Amino acid sequence: MPKLRVHTFTISLDGYGAGPNQSLDNPIGAGGRAIHQWLFPTRTFRKMFGQEGGTTDLDDAFAARGVENIGAWILGRNMFGPIRGPWPDDSWKGWWGDNPPYHTPVFVLTNHPRASIVMEGDTTFHFVHEGIHAAYERAFAAANGRDVRLGGGVATIRQYLRAQLVDEMHLAIAPILIGAGEHLLEGLDLPRLGYACTEHASSPNATHVVIARSG
Ligand SMILES: NC(=O)c1ccc[n+]([C@@H]2O[C@H](COP(=O)([O-])OP(=O)(O)OC[C@H]3O[C@@H](n4cnc5c(N)ncnc54)[C@H](OP(=O)(O)O)[C@@H]3O)[C@@H](O)[C@H]2O)c1
Repeated sequence: MPKLRVHTFTISLDGYGAGPNQSLDNPIGAGGRAIHQWLFPTRTFRKMFGQEGGTTDLDDAFAARGVENIGAWILGRNMFGPIRGPWPDDSWKGWWGDNPPYHTPVFVLTNHPRASIVMEGDTTFHFVHEGIHAAYERAFAAANGRDVRLGGGVATIRQYLRAQLVDEMHLAIAPILIGAGEHLLEGLDLPRLGYACTEHASSPNATHVVIARSG
């Protein structure tokens, strides 16, 4: 059965997946960029953005898993961009330029309907305002037998965890405290929801854990 998978989702040591005050200049919020330092030098991350070279260590091995067998993505609207509320116009097309690093259909959860956007490189952004189950069904239909990657952000992953729809989730825990922001797991009883830690490994830059649902 195709899976809903989270990969390379990074949290601070105190559990935040984004810092406070997300903005155009600071997409991951204050302190958010610092927690991703393990990922930026990896070969996989650099390749996604058209750059050569990069590390091929444990961090890269975890990053590389996230691009295997993915047929569609689901994102939250705040991960797609800094605009909140009704779309003022159609000019915002994501953070990633004309050729975003997805190369699949991408389903963006939002309460504010908008027409789909076809980008270069086979990425199409579809905006889903009928909720997480509708996005899930549309993404799996589009993925055509491959897995669906749940990109984030925090509010989006929390909803899919609560609905017990995430099959596996790779978290990278950075050894950095940021003190405030969007907390990934606060108030979620993952064992009761059927999740357990199935794998863990550490590099000098991050502790990697895989949390999976059994049964
Ligand atoms: N740490 C990491 O590895 C990582 C990875 C990805 C992203 N991020 C960061 O995470 C932050 C975004 O996370 P976030 O928790 O603020 O927001 P998010 O999950 O990206 O988006 C939340 C927004 O999506 C829309 N939405 C979510 N669920 C919906 C539903 N069921 N129905 C309709 N609309 C729905 C709503 O927007 P509207 O009501 O406005 O439409 C909601 O405010 C960004 O800073 C991003 O850079 C971090």
